[in-house]
Amino acid sequence: MAGPTKKSQSRERSTQQAETTRKLSAQTFLSLDGVMQAPGGPDEDRDGGFRHGGWSMTYWDERMGQIMDKSMTDLDTLLLGRKTYDIFAGYWPKHRDLAGATPLNRATKYVASRTRRRLEWEHSQLLEGDAATTVAKLKQQPGSTIHVIGSSNLLQTLLKADLVDELDLWVFPVILGSGKRLFQDGAIPSAWKLKDSDVSTTGVIIQRYERAGAIKYGSPPRS
Ligand SMILES: NC(=O)c1ccc[n+]([C@@H]2O[C@H](COP(=O)([O-])OP(=O)(O)OC[C@H]3O[C@@H](n4cnc5c(N)ncnc54)[C@H](OP(=O)(O)O)[C@@H]3O)[C@@H](O)[C@H]2O)c1
Repeated sequence: MAGPTKKSQSRERSTQQAETTRKLSAQTFLSLDGVMQAPGGPDEDRDGGFRHGGWSMTYWDERMGQIMDKSMTDLDTLLLGRKTYDIFAGYWPKHRDLAGATPLNRATKYVASRTRRRLEWEHSQLLEGDAATTVAKLKQQPGSTIHVIGSSNLLQTLLKADLVDELDLWVFPVILGSGKRLFQDGAIPSAWKLKDSDVSTTGVIIQRYERAGAIKYGSPPRS
């Protein structure tokens, strides 16, 4: 029987590579107008004079809790901007009995910062070097999905470098008019495929997308 051809060997190599490459998934709560600042409480983040902190809290129902619990089951690695890290590090180690605390406390947390030298929260480490380059290298290592939660500022770097593979967007039925947005100028134009969706009894739409290559452009038929 003939052995594997060069072509099939190279196909095999790229399949193996795909299997060992880690995906990067960004989970974000959003208003209808794309704001992601301070969903959890009035004092979470008042940057820019933001006065609407806590806008997501009254919409939680049982279904959302179940979906969130499920999304946390495989949480092993988190990537956070330093401000989101500070918010989480100030909360989750002190609330170990709450749902979500165990996976968040236990996960390995990589933190992007140009100012911080030490991190107190267990299992946390600074991202060394240029964030985009280091995250690209991290994605090449074997392992499970790297989860980004919040971190609107860091996400701009990740989106510009085309490092985000999955979007887990929870869209709440509020318009905020101002605040830090998920998509700012500079994201790479790209097409996405809807993998899964859910709607809560309170009107929150949960949409999970994966990258689907380049945008296919069209134009109206000519008469
Ligand atoms: N909607 C949601 O689901 C959700 C969830 C959690 C949090 N949040 C919100 O997300 C927001 C987080 O604040 P944020 O977006 O301003 O900041 P962030 O992305 O969490 O953190 C920003 C900081 O991360 C570091 N950083 C970012 N990009 C970097 C890069 N390319 N290289 C090196 N370091 C980098 C810098 O830290 P240094 O300043 O130390 O250099 C920067 O000041 C808050 O409004 C919070 O309420 C939203």
